[in-house]
Amino acid sequence: MTKQYGVVLIGCGYIGEEHLADIYYRENVRMVAAVDTDIRRAEHLARKYGVPAYGTDYRKYIGLPETDIVIIATYVDSHLGLMRDAVAAGCHVLCEKPVAADLAAGEAFFREAAAASTAVMIGHILRCNRSYQKIQELVRGGAIGGLKLIRIIQNHHALEWGRYKRLMQDCPPILDCGVHYMDIMRWISGEEIVSVSGRGCRLDPDAPCINYGDVQVQLTGGCLGNYESGWSRNLKACSRREFIGERGYIRLTLKEDRVSDREEGDLLEIYHSDTGSYETLNVKSRYKDMYAQFMQLIERIEGRPGNGFTLEDAWLAFMAAREACEVIQTAESVSR
Ligand SMILES: NC(=O)c1ccc[n+]([C@@H]2O[C@H](COP(=O)([O-])OP(=O)(O)OC[C@H]3O[C@@H](n4cnc5c(N)ncnc54)[C@H](O)[C@@H]3O)[C@@H](O)[C@H]2O)c1
Repeated sequence: MTKQYGVVLIGCGYIGEEHLADIYYRENVRMVAAVDTDIRRAEHLARKYGVPAYGTDYRKYIGLPETDIVIIATYVDSHLGLMRDAVAAGCHVLCEKPVAADLAAGEAFFREAAAASTAVMIGHILRCNRSYQKIQELVRGGAIGGLKLIRIIQNHHALEWGRYKRLMQDCPPILDCGVHYMDIMRWISGEEIVSVSGRGCRLDPDAPCINYGDVQVQLTGGCLGNYESGWSRNLKACSRREFIGERGYIRLTLKEDRVSDREEGDLLEIYHSDTGSYETLNVKSRYKDMYAQFMQLIERIEGRPGNGFTLEDAWLAFMAAREACEVIQTAESVSR
């Protein structure tokens, strides 16, 4: 018989619903409760997905004998405290990235997660996306020769400005989204990030932080990474993923017209400069495959290696994205 895991979701906003919508009906999932400091959001998701209980106090649910897993999908400033309490209650944890906004909290998070007697996993959803898995396979397999340049742009036309402003109270997009792309650069290239530089600015006068940045990273094998990211009402949504090698490029796009700021895609275009040929691959990938990610946690709980993504990988991505924020802030504060 399939083992069922009791799950408490904390945080019923955008990404909390993405988690719930993809796991609530699965054979190995038994939802226990949906929790949010805003009771209306907890109630809304509980009713929509048939979660038996909802509330504002997660402590009521994490200690229940039927709770095995806690999904943390709240604001960044609460991740460390929630992970700590969930682990202390004997629960496994799937926590949204980034784990923290500052170095001290980030260090504490990773130290305590590594020492936990339960499994703690950080939600790097792109590791579970088949398009990126295919790109990694192609690049590492030499399809475009030695990798020289990675170009990533992830700009959001932030019309839900209140939500974005709240997220930016904790950390800027260069950290919030940046952890994904620092990880992508390491993972796809198989190289380590050795230096980080960049510039940024505040595009909206009422943005709580620098809300646009352009970052360059140097990787150990000589590959250069460029990552541009902004959340602003004044930016057009823009999404670009290019991996450029000595013998061609791979570009990831979404088959349908790109009017949104979705960071995933399902169409790979490959250009081979030695033969002058173009190739396109349709990858059967899914937008935010939360169940695949959830199953990575189950693999760990049940003692299997899963996709090999480790806490160390998440830590290195966090550190590089933190450094990117620092260089951007330092550069902005210098006036002439
Ligand atoms: N992996 C991804 O692709 C991805 C995408 C978007 C957001 N995120 C991350 O998910 C987190 C949440 O982002 P979002 O876009 O869902 O934000 P959101 O504003 O849509 O939702 C956050 C929810 O958490 C609730 N909340 C905040 N603190 C809480 C606490 N201490 N206890 C209970 N509820 C609490 C809020 O009331 C809100 O309903 C952020 O860390 C963000 O970086 C990840």
